[in-house]
Amino acid sequence: MTFPEYRFMSVGIDDISFYSSGLYLSLSTLADHNGEDPDKYRVGLGQERMGVPAPDEDIVTLAANAARPLINDGNHDRITTILFATESSIDQSKAAGVYVQRLLGLGSNCRIVELKQACYSATAAIQMACGLVARKPGDQVLVIAADIARYGLGTPGEATQGCGAVAMLVKDSPRLLEVHPETGCYSEDVMDFWRPNYMDTALVDGKYSTIVYLKALRQSWKHYRENAGSVDFGDFSRFCYHLPFTKMGEKAHRKLAVTNGVSMDAELLEQQIGSGLLYNRQIGNSYSASLYIGLASLLENDKEDLSGKHIGLFSYGSGCVGEFFAMTVCNGYREHSRREQHLAMLEQRQELDYQTYAELFGHSCPQDGGEHYFPEMAAGHYRLAGIHDHKRIYSETDG
Ligand code: CAA
Repeated sequence: MTFPEYRFMSVGIDDISFYSSGLYLSLSTLADHNGEDPDKYRVGLGQERMGVPAPDEDIVTLAANAARPLINDGNHDRITTILFATESSIDQSKAAGVYVQRLLGLGSNCRIVELKQACYSATAAIQMACGLVARKPGDQVLVIAADIARYGLGTPGEATQGCGAVAMLVKDSPRLLEVHPETGCYSEDVMDFWRPNYMDTALVDGKYSTIVYLKALRQSWKHYRENAGSVDFGDFSRFCYHLPFTKMGEKAHRKLAVTNGVSMDAELLEQQIGSGLLYNRQIGNSYSASLYIGLASLLENDKEDLSGKHIGLFSYGSGCVGEFFAMTVCNGYREHSRREQHLAMLEQRQELDYQTYAELFGHSCPQDGGEHYFPEMAAGHYRLAGIHDHKRIYSETDG
């Protein structure tokens, strides 16, 4: 065991919950329409389905639906900060977390801010949350990441779309995961993926983005090892990666193994990352939420009891920032699993045909300041009822 002795109190993730739209497109439907072999998406990208947002869903409704199960009478006044990570922002000024605070009925003595750096920002939020809690034990920070991945019909990125949100409660003496203070970072000004303010789909240099992702992984790992003393690859039982598509996680893990002189066969690959890929394969890319939906997938589906085991995590946001860091699984974490609810949510989704998916893709928010109401399609507890006078109107459903 070569992890440094903890110099700080135990701080980390006490609870985790995620949500995706109630609608999905099967990638075999997409492959049929695009004239591709379904195995290109299923095997080549490692994806089965992608979440498709309804017209009455946005990052706020996804986020509120993800966070709702974490809030109870005991903590709704103890959450002192909401950090909302996204790259699908709905406003240039107002933080999406302010809507979420009201929808969840959280106390008003709360600081709220939105963070952006492509798919990476939730990791910055986790690190900031841990810092706040370490400074003032007893405070609780709600970290939310929510995104809608859009590339455009018929583009190479289309099969890697998706949507989802994840909510995590960060506090002292957490029940699920302790976050280690040592990390390794890498940043570089590159144009592998970006979305100018005037566009609602991302611009991407797809192949280049996968190369930069792997470079950022190598460099972050190198920096992590400089900071974490003599920790090496073999000290980790499991690994979680940012998952634009699950095959990217496999490529990343093979690359990290080679970098460390470890030979990686299919069995070891499955053991070290397999259970963390299950949810993302069904949801698609959820940008900032993706790494942490993968983390939930690992905790809830790994057959082995991971208590006391160390997980290595790599967060990547194009543009680019990468960070490698570590968590230790807490004893008794399985008693707090939300697996049944998550599986039920994924199971109850409604499949779309190609035509309906394409129509939904074409839906865009009215920009004329008039009064607009959206059809009731959202499956969750919160929906975007409409827009009036440029103001979003959210409501609750029976769901
Ligand atoms: N059976 C099995 N496998 C097949 C196949 C078949 N019939 N046909 C093709 N494949 C394999 C290919 O060999 C390839 O695998 P390898 O990469 O291991 O060689 C894989 O399927 C994909 O095929 P292509 O490379 O031909 O696919 P493409 O060029 O059409 O698109 C992509 C791939 C560039 C990743 C594209 O989906 C894309 O642009 N995606 C968006 C960008 C992205 O996700 N980048 C990831 C890194 S950046 C990041 O992580 C941040 C983020 O979230 C965006």
